[in-house]
Amino acid sequence: MVKREIIEKILENCDIVELINSYLPLKKVGQYYRTLCPFHHDTKPSFYVNPSQQLFHCFGCKESGNAIHFIMKYEKMEFLEAVKFLAERAGISLKEEREDKKNQGIYEVVEFACNFYHEQLFIYPQALNYLTEKRRLSLATIKEFQLGYAPPGNLLIKVLKKRGYPEELLIESGVAYKKEGEIQEWFFNRIIFPIFNRRGKVIGFGGRVFEEEIEPKYLNSPETLIFKKGENLYGFYQTSNFLTKNKPILVEGYFDLLSLFDKGIKNLAAPLGTGFTIEQAKLLKKYCEEVIILFDGDNAGREATKRVIEIALKASLNPLIALLPDGYDPDKYVNEKGAEELKKIINTPYDLIDFHLKISTPQTISEKRNVLKQLLETINFTCDSALKELYLNKISETFNISKKQVLRAIEKDYFIFKDIEFSTLLRDLEFTILNVLINYPKYIVFIEEYNKQIFSEEIKEAMEIIKEFKDKEKITVGLIFEAVKNPTLKKRLSLISFLPQELIKGIKEEDFKELLNKYLYNYYLKKCTSGEIDENTLGKIYEIKRKLIKGEK
Ligand code: GTP
Ligand code: MN
Repeated sequence: MVKREIIEKILENCDIVELINSYLPLKKVGQYYRTLCPFHHDTKPSFYVNPSQQLFHCFGCKESGNAIHFIMKYEKMEFLEAVKFLAERAGISLKEEREDKKNQGIYEVVEFACNFYHEQLFIYPQALNYLTEKRRLSLATIKEFQLGYAPPGNLLIKVLKKRGYPEELLIESGVAYKKEGEIQEWFFNRIIFPIFNRRGKVIGFGGRVFEEEIEPKYLNSPETLIFKKGENLYGFYQTSNFLTKNKPILVEGYFDLLSLFDKGIKNLAAPLGTGFTIEQAKLLKKYCEEVIILFDGDNAGREATKRVIEIALKASLNPLIALLPDGYDPDKYVNEKGAEELKKIINTPYDLIDFHLKISTPQTISEKRNVLKQLLETINFTCDSALKELYLNKISETFNISKKQVLRAIEKDYFIFKDIEFSTLLRDLEFTILNVLINYPKYIVFIEEYNKQIFSEEIKEAMEIIKEFKDKEKITVGLIFEAVKNPTLKKRLSLISFLPQELIKGIKEEDFKELLNKYLYNYYLKKCTSGEIDENTLGKIYEIKRKLIKGEK
């Protein structure tokens, strides 16, 4: 967790115009800057930067945000990574110095271990032969992925200790552990697969026995301060460049990824020995809209595929499924049949409906009903309504059931209507209120007098946030953007910052109170029109109306 004050400090120390200009040539137009939008195919500049609100907004693709969001989008980084990136840029330290030093030590030890294991590979011919002969990998691939060998005998620990690294650090780095009071190497007599983060730094290892009988076949480093299994993908540093042109192919194992890469199929990703996680799916989603799942051609592989489909859908990543013949995994297939044959399978993947039909081949009515039920449950995992619609259409065609019936089957989950829509007038008024509050946060005190229930959820959230900032001399939309959770509110705020500010400039207390009363008046009117008329409401309407007419505030 990064403290809010630090995020504020970073935002206040980073000028969004200077930042974006270091990536894209900005041209000044009036009080704004603009350029071609980097986030969609833009033919005339629709990407605007607002220096006074420290915000960007694209009028084409509607992408918007502050400096942190720009970096997240542009550099394809997670929130924390982007914060770190900007902090480094501004020379602001995120962590206690002690913690920083510890991470630094872990990175050093792990990097040292990686080089050590890689060198050992060339000292132990049986290990190198295993990779080149048995697994048929080229030296180029072995080097690119820095594959290695961990020999028995605690040699690595001796070398690291000699270099002055304390035992404690070796354990914290995951290369060693304590067994009956003695320090032991985590990996011995194993082929080593270094795991890199997205900046190319080694963070941990996978290890495979190469004498088949020993258990477990695969062993990963324990999680450390720098190694989180669910957040990284194997090989991603080497493959991510290939994912923008071609959809990523998700495989199960380290060797599947290495063999395909070696044979020229490089748009790959693999989880880290554990199940595929939503974080990993989100990482892929930054590069592409779809993923091709190429798992082992056995029951376990197909069951795992079903789980990945659900996770992909949750991340709005459309899953496609390439099916291998029984008994093959991608590694075995490419080595036996060659890359061209494998490409034929990869290039004609099934969608999730055809996949389910293919693997369960329902014959009887009740079998069909079961598959239908599973499919409806599966597609319900996505919140991408267009994708959901397309699948529903296909289900209706495939099963020859009217769409109405399909919908009825999942009605409960599918139709979630929320009656939070205010009339356009109310929304406009709210918009103006928000606009005033951003420019004059001190006016928030006048709102306190009103019953919060009359405002929409978005406004309520905005008010809470502005309240926290009310002692600041100047706030910008960019500054409070971080605290905003509601996506609709984010959109509205970003639009507000590009509205002409003349209308609200110098707005007085009385004007603001009148604005609030207008809102209140219309709010009660709306209540009446929707049938909620009671004496209390009518009374309120008259009261406010009177105030408005008399100019009494
Ligand atoms: P090879 O036998 O080397 O071809 O491996 P594989 O990739 O075909 O193995 P498998 O399909 O059994 O496993 C796929 C992936 O799951 C591996 O690459 C590992 O990441 C992981 N895995 C398999 N077995 C184990 C295990 O015993 N422990 C752990 N932690 N992970 C495993
Ligand atoms: Mn295999």
